[in-house]
Amino acid sequence: MTTFSEYLHQHGAEHQLEPALLDTVQTIVSACQTIGRNVRLGALSGVLGEAGTGNIQGEAQKKLDVIANQILIDTLRNNPNVAGLASEEEDDFVAANEQGDYLVLFDPLDGSSNIDINISIGTIFSVLAKPSGSLKTESFLQKGRDQVAAGYVLYGVQTLLVLTFKHGVAVFTLDENGEFVQTHTAPQIPESTAEFAINMSNQRHWEQPVQQYIAALLAGKDGIRGKNYNMRWVASMVAEVHRILMRGGVFMYPKDNRDPSKAGKLRLMYEANPLGLVVEQAGGKITNARENMLDIQPVGLHQRVAVVLGSAEEVETVCQYHL
Ligand code: AHG
Ligand code: MN
Ligand code: MN
Repeated sequence: MTTFSEYLHQHGAEHQLEPALLDTVQTIVSACQTIGRNVRLGALSGVLGEAGTGNIQGEAQKKLDVIANQILIDTLRNNPNVAGLASEEEDDFVAANEQGDYLVLFDPLDGSSNIDINISIGTIFSVLAKPSGSLKTESFLQKGRDQVAAGYVLYGVQTLLVLTFKHGVAVFTLDENGEFVQTHTAPQIPESTAEFAINMSNQRHWEQPVQQYIAALLAGKDGIRGKNYNMRWVASMVAEVHRILMRGGVFMYPKDNRDPSKAGKLRLMYEANPLGLVVEQAGGKITNARENMLDIQPVGLHQRVAVVLGSAEEVETVCQYHL
């Protein structure tokens, strides 16, 4: 059994990764272990319910959104390798250590609507190399493809760590001593699938290509796709991505007409890019339905995007409907 620390050591040596990068990721994971302990105790640790505040995105915050955000900021600030942080729950980036070489971006708690009902939630993280010069918002606006590491911790039936340094994906399970132990080497997302995930309640707001694509899936064996499809919607993107990593599928949060000023609901820097890197490293695809997500030049820290990800053939089919 390979522990997470042993993996960092071995994988780092094999791919000549910077010790400072390995150390940064170790710190992110240790912050997530702290978050995980709070999540597991739920009502017993007083972390459930509303915070009574809102974030920059105009969303009501849960107590655990605020607590997880603070744990990550406090823990990462203490690591001299970390130059700056950006969080879904912060208005602006947070400066950390001037001599640091890395930037860490995160969605401290993904799946907020599931916190109080004991359904899987997670922390999503992305690591970038800090460009030279003084730290500014633009330092963070790097393409998904330029991430140096990304992953998530899923607080689910099991607590899992899923991580990539762009040499495949590794999966770890938290053991009874609170230590991550590797349980999957290089998972691969099957190319084809018969399972989709979309919030069907938004159907009337979707644009024409998504209407047509989903209609074809719902027609099942009798329609042009010639097979029956199954549907899942957890409402925690991190859990949907994990399901897709394990057994394939397609996940979509398309642009819709509810608020025409928004390109989508999900966030490029904290959700789409880090999860996209994991998906691509496992042989899947991620797009905004028109171009590869990881090639999009970000223009803002809190930028939103349409998301289509998962099994390669299905993601390509969605893109065909958008030509
Ligand atoms: P967050 O909890 O970080 O705000 O993200 C929630 C996101 C994503 O995880 C999920 O797929 C989606 O919002 C759920 O949206 P609906 O409420 O429309 O189901
Ligand atoms: Mn989220
Ligand atoms: Mn969140």
